[in-house]
Amino acid sequence: MDDLSLQPAAENDLAAMLELYNFYIINTTATFDHGQITPEEFRQRIFIGHEKYKTYIIRLGNDTVGFCFLTQYRKKAAYDRTAEIGLYLKPDFTGKNIGDDTVIFLEKVAISKGIRVIIASISGENTASIKLFQKMGYERCAHYRQVGEKFGRFIDVIDYEKILPD
Ligand SMILES: CC(C)(COP(=O)(O)OP(=O)(O)OC[C@H]1O[C@@H](n2cnc3c(N)ncnc32)[C@H](O)[C@@H]1OP(=O)(O)O)[C@@H](O)C(=O)NCCC(=O)NCCS
Repeated sequence: MDDLSLQPAAENDLAAMLELYNFYIINTTATFDHGQITPEEFRQRIFIGHEKYKTYIIRLGNDTVGFCFLTQYRKKAAYDRTAEIGLYLKPDFTGKNIGDDTVIFLEKVAISKGIRVIIASISGENTASIKLFQKMGYERCAHYRQVGEKFGRFIDVIDYEKILPD
């Protein structure tokens, strides 16, 4: 998509990102937070101060349409070249393949930072996300049954993995 751009998220992007994230907390099982999170808690999650793991704002022209990130997979040193991916698009902008370009962007960022493996950890109910990562060449590598509880349901988590080219 020609006028799609991604930039590291800044302080003045926080409110728009949090509004979007809280929408998905309240209305979906795409994320396993239960109640809305506060600006302060969100700020701590977004600005972790690590060169490798950043959040990016996604814009289409001048419109903010979502955000995405690479984050630490696990804290132990052996996992330093593995990252977890996440992306949240505004509802009006889903289903338009923006996810493809976003994943491609994050993979390039990952490669530039020496990351070899990306993991997408997805709610078993999130068909759109599963389709996106399958389409982008990610392989199912783990299936955790009923590990998440939300809206009175026990929900699976399915991990998809891609080993990036050297
Ligand atoms: C999941 C998400 C990132 C996928 O990105 P996207 O740009 O919408 O992906 P695509 O346009 O490539 O669509 C992928 C598939 O999901 C379907 N899809 C996307 N959004 C949908 C929606 N709102 N309702 C139903 N199907 C949807 C598409 O039709 C497509 O299916 P197809 O391959 O059979 O045609 C995006 O939909 C999103 O932000 N969703 C809400 C937040 C979320 O779930 N984030 C992921 C957390 S792991």
